[in-house]
Amino acid sequence: MRRVLLLGGTGWLGREVARAARDSGAEVTCLARGTSGDVPHGVELVRGDRLEPGAYDGVQAREWDEVVEFAYQPGLVEPAVDALANSAAHWTLVSTVSVYADNSTPGANEAAELVEPRDLVDYPDAKVAAERASATRLGDRLLIARPGLIVGPGDPSDRFGYWPARFHRGGEVLIPATEQRCVQVIDVADLAQWITRAGSIPLTGVVNAVGAVHTMHDFLDAVRDVTGFDGELVAVDDDALLARGVNYWAGPRSLPLWLPIEDAGFAQRDGSAFLATGGTLCPLADTLTRALADEIARGIDRPRRAGLTPAEEHEVLAAVR
Ligand SMILES: NC(=O)c1ccc[n+]([C@@H]2O[C@H](COP(=O)([O-])OP(=O)(O)OC[C@H]3O[C@@H](n4cnc5c(N)ncnc54)[C@H](OP(=O)(O)O)[C@@H]3O)[C@@H](O)[C@H]2O)c1
Repeated sequence: MRRVLLLGGTGWLGREVARAARDSGAEVTCLARGTSGDVPHGVELVRGDRLEPGAYDGVQAREWDEVVEFAYQPGLVEPAVDALANSAAHWTLVSTVSVYADNSTPGANEAAELVEPRDLVDYPDAKVAAERASATRLGDRLLIARPGLIVGPGDPSDRFGYWPARFHRGGEVLIPATEQRCVQVIDVADLAQWITRAGSIPLTGVVNAVGAVHTMHDFLDAVRDVTGFDGELVAVDDDALLARGVNYWAGPRSLPLWLPIEDAGFAQRDGSAFLATGGTLCPLADTLTRALADEIARGIDRPRRAGLTPAEEHEVLAAVR
């Protein structure tokens, strides 16, 4: 039986990978504190704080067919590789497309230039440092997976789900100007399946784990279809949104997935390596349908980590009229 160690496995993606690996027939162990959540049924959790001495004692003596690293902080990534590289046949580092220095060029592939790490508190810098430290120690046993925006049920960032939730609520919906804008996501289930399969091949190298590119117009059309929305969309240009304090992309008072025009390449990464290495993509409508069901189950009117509240949206709409 394949033995898989997840460094993590209690977060959103980690749990999905734990489930997928378990369902593939592997024996799955997770090393984490357990503060982010629990592990799926049938998966072993070895509790440990990886910043404490002896953190790897519970897993170091075993042999692993596959190790998957979900963290990126240098204080977690480097000691893990030092402690476990000799007992791992293959290693997958979950990185991100945020490692790329340039977000303006549509269709850029894995060879594109990376951010030069300066301040490892910054997410892209820390991810590049994690990639380099892992590559130095693991060489040709390493797969670097660079996911784009991960979406689907359970997403703790509340970004993608904003749109089906908002359309479901109905009425007048504030949207950004869609011209020259795209949306590119990867369904958490597709990503978990691919990571699991990649580890069993085993696949090495660097792969953008990204889905198909949709124009933002087509994306919003798909949201309309899935939600049965029959209200009015009110498109507001960037200057007016920014003047009203609306943020790009994520977080409070934002329009999720809205990016500056100059960053249009961020949502148009080349995903051909993902498909060529066995990645599959469920239709956007399926992802939206599952995200909508999840939004309804979690409560459409709950406080969110991303998007506009109804009051904020009302205020912006009133101001731009
Ligand atoms: N969301 C996106 O759209 C997106 C896009 C691209 C890439 N990514 C990447 O995808 C991955 C997401 O992973 P995820 O959803 O599973 O959640 P996560 O919260 O990013 O995963 C962190 C994991 O590390 C563990 N951890 C953190 N500090 C620890 C410590 N001191 N000791 C032991 N374990 C520790 C956490 O477990 P405990 O807290 O239980 O210890 C958790 O399981 C990340 O690498 C992220 O950068 C995300």
